[in-house]
Amino acid sequence: MKSNKAIELLAKMTLEEKIDQLMQLATPFFKGASDNGKITGPMVHLKVDVKNVQNAGSVLGASGAENIISIQKKHLEENRLGIPLLFMSDVVHGYKTIFPIPLAIGCSWNIDLAEQSAKIAAKEAAVSGIHVTFAPMVDLVRDPRWGRVMESTGEDPFLNSMFAKAQVKGFQGKDLKTNLDHIAACVKHFAGYGAAEGGRDYNTVNMSDRELHENYLPPFKNAINAGVKMIMSSFNIVDGIPATANKYLMRNILREQWGFDGVIISDWGAVKELISHGVASNEREAALKALEAGTDIEMMTHCYTENLKNLVESGELDESLIDEAVIRILQLKDDLGLFENPYRGADIKREQKVVMSNSHRKAARELAAESCVLLKNEKNVLPLEPMQKIALIGPFVDSGDILGQWSWLGSTDDAVTIAAGLSKKVKKNEVLISKGSDITMITEDLKKQAVETAKLADVIVMAVGEHSSMSGEAGSRSNIQLPEAQLELLKAISTVGKPIVTVLFNGRPLDLHGVIEHSDALLEAWYPGTEGGNAIGDILFGDQNPSGKLTMSFPYSAGQIPVYYNHYNTGRPKGAPDAQVRYVSQYLDSPNDPLFPFGFGLSYTTFQYSNLKLSKNQITKTDKLIVSFNVKNTGSVSGKEIVQLYISDTVGEVVRPVKELKGFKKIELDSNEEQTIYFELSEVDLRYFHSNLAYKSDPGTFIVSVGSSSTEVIELSFQLIPTKEDQ
Ligand code: BGC
Repeated sequence: MKSNKAIELLAKMTLEEKIDQLMQLATPFFKGASDNGKITGPMVHLKVDVKNVQNAGSVLGASGAENIISIQKKHLEENRLGIPLLFMSDVVHGYKTIFPIPLAIGCSWNIDLAEQSAKIAAKEAAVSGIHVTFAPMVDLVRDPRWGRVMESTGEDPFLNSMFAKAQVKGFQGKDLKTNLDHIAACVKHFAGYGAAEGGRDYNTVNMSDRELHENYLPPFKNAINAGVKMIMSSFNIVDGIPATANKYLMRNILREQWGFDGVIISDWGAVKELISHGVASNEREAALKALEAGTDIEMMTHCYTENLKNLVESGELDESLIDEAVIRILQLKDDLGLFENPYRGADIKREQKVVMSNSHRKAARELAAESCVLLKNEKNVLPLEPMQKIALIGPFVDSGDILGQWSWLGSTDDAVTIAAGLSKKVKKNEVLISKGSDITMITEDLKKQAVETAKLADVIVMAVGEHSSMSGEAGSRSNIQLPEAQLELLKAISTVGKPIVTVLFNGRPLDLHGVIEHSDALLEAWYPGTEGGNAIGDILFGDQNPSGKLTMSFPYSAGQIPVYYNHYNTGRPKGAPDAQVRYVSQYLDSPNDPLFPFGFGLSYTTFQYSNLKLSKNQITKTDKLIVSFNVKNTGSVSGKEIVQLYISDTVGEVVRPVKELKGFKKIELDSNEEQTIYFELSEVDLRYFHSNLAYKSDPGTFIVSVGSSSTEVIELSFQLIPTKEDQ
């Protein structure tokens, strides 16, 4: 439903004015801007004139209440119909208070905290004048070579869907017109971008439509169900057609099948890139294809402004398609209340109080601690004791580069380093600090100093990882080991013979050769954000019990990639009872399994699963199946456990994944406490996309597995039987 305001305005607009509404430019183009904003893609020479800018619909990458108020004011003075600008930016995992990277947030499995982090990010952004965030990014990811895995919540469609919804709710709240502490969300990148071949950014994507529907589309659907206002199309091709010109994706799936009525924006420069892809011979054709396919806003190229008018006049393009796109944009402006209040939440005074407030930092610390994943803890090296003499070694000891990519306004100066975090925890002794190496460079001197420092300590904490620019957009790597310099450092430190706790800062699952064998304990801290050092201190000293679990498998080696838990069975699965020695699906030189699987993560306590029961061993379409089991904290400290439920469909019309996550809960148990956990399943949870894309279930046997990871489970089976009407 379009508002009267939007309809009335459209009627008054000239064709040129309409076309310019479809253009999105970065901050430097606008009068009144006090800085250049954030540039997140290649700046090309754009053929836009003063008139185009005066009529523009939206701005990319501006921030700050004063700045945005000033741009909007100038714009309203110059725009004939007084149509306010929309300000859009990448507020991905925080505005200025930076939360852990999304992959880390995924590993918290804490949907409530994820929603809260989006809510806080929205509040900071809104008071600083922003209207729309280009988030959440919900691409399913299976290839850690791809730098953008850090922006996703991981390899599972169910989990990604839960996070998609939580983030949309957190950003948008209930009503954007009345609640000025929220901003509109733009879910991205539609679709399949996570499957770039070889993990190389912007590369070809090649997958079946069924695969797209089964794994890649569900979080987008859930974001739409949660009311997301915008969608960004992706850079890649889908079945040979770039997403930005893909009618099937936008007109058929988004508009017709899913009824999405919000705005679709291209990714940066993607309309013009139709020429490089080789599906348009010039900008004119690129504009025609993108608009006809359903791209409403062209980000950062000028194909629309340069060509749409002529295309309408020549009769090649129906003006009604332009009208449809414009009215959606006007509607979004109306939904945000911009016609009544073009400055919306922007408030210079309040901005000072809201942005980076103590309560926001506190929330960031809590989520960072819940996002860390303890991968190894031998001989109970962890938690550390405040009386121990600790040597802190590695290029991250004093580094604020722990915010990760897409932290935009986050300042590394505001970040609590690991040195600062640990120093607050120790009694009496100082933390002995030595850098040992840079990220990619080591000298004999640095190494020697670090070894000498290590000798003085009871326990060594190694702070190592990737520079943040080694992941994120255009941050693909073919070798995903720790940089050589740091492997050398770790090896040298291991010769000292003291217990080593390795803390990893990185934006992707790594190949841990050279790390795991020299570490007695291993904590994956990801890029934990502004409060990173404090959160890591909380975990290492046991003030917080680690409770994160991986949402993306850690490969044994890069040669296994892609390796993920919800893979299909082959005709010759390894480990089958009658399997031969050679002619099975395996590597000659590596295990099939990842080093650490999906759902894995240790705690300072242990949990025991028992007494799995199903309320029925047969269900029909109309029944509910209650799955119950006990979880007991069998260790000596309280802890949080992420209880996971998977199903396996033993026979399908098409091959089914060996396991699929269908439920999870994050629970907290005191030492020795036992709780009975209940999940409810029904036929709906057993549905999948058939070869003709029909989404339905098949009668047959299903296995329910529950446990603490995708591989440590107890299981039972049940039958789905047809009702009389089905037969
Ligand atoms: C990225 C998007 C981002 C956009 C605007 C592009 O390069 O792919 O994720 O939202 O820039 O900053």
